[in-house]
Amino acid sequence: MRFFSTVSLVFTAALAAFSVAAPAAEEAKVVARQSTTSIASIFSTAFTEIAPLAESLVYLNSDNATQAVITPIISQISAPLNTALTSVTALQGQGLTQDQLLLSEDGTEVLSVAALAQLIAFDLILLFKGLGAILSIVGADLAAILIPLLYAVGILVYKILVIVLALVVGLLIALTPLLGSIVGVLNALGLTVLLVLLAL
Ligand SMILES: *[C@@H]1O[C@H](CO)[C@@H](O)[C@H](O)[C@H]1NC(C)=O
Repeated sequence: MRFFSTVSLVFTAALAAFSVAAPAAEEAKVVARQSTTSIASIFSTAFTEIAPLAESLVYLNSDNATQAVITPIISQISAPLNTALTSVTALQGQGLTQDQLLLSEDGTEVLSVAALAQLIAFDLILLFKGLGAILSIVGADLAAILIPLLYAVGILVYKILVIVLALVVGLLIALTPLLGSIVGVLNALGLTVLLVLLAL
């Protein structure tokens, strides 16, 4: 799919180059496609799926804090994170400018680095609050089973952020002060790599 969209983007660009009649329309299409691969749009796509799942974890109670309920939610959270990892990996090496990387979700404006940091922090806090809620409600036996799964979710986030932080100049400095509230969860899950990456 990524290959296909790259091909069609190149094709559209070629059309635009040869079409004298409607260059503006073709240019608009190219811009619209680029907007779907901005960092904000990748996060929004992933976290539209993740938000209700993370929320349902926050409201776990002793009746539904079971392995049968929690394990599928963790896989459902991992799937959009894997997609996001593929998407940010594809951003690398495309030679996109900072402005292109910072396009808003709908592609209509260029976000400030601080605004992108806020968006990412909001998503990370939502996710890790949910994961933390699991730790605070399950007993030691179930925690022992679930912690490796939660750790793996954290590693996916780590892999996404390694790429994103390298792409956007100044993002780390803007992000670090926003994430104090998830330090405890990251520690509890043993996600030292993520703590170090985020300078927490
Ligand atoms: C657990 O039950 C509570 C109370 O009914 C509900 O709010 C919450 O969303 C449920 N969580 C899951 C993961 O099913």
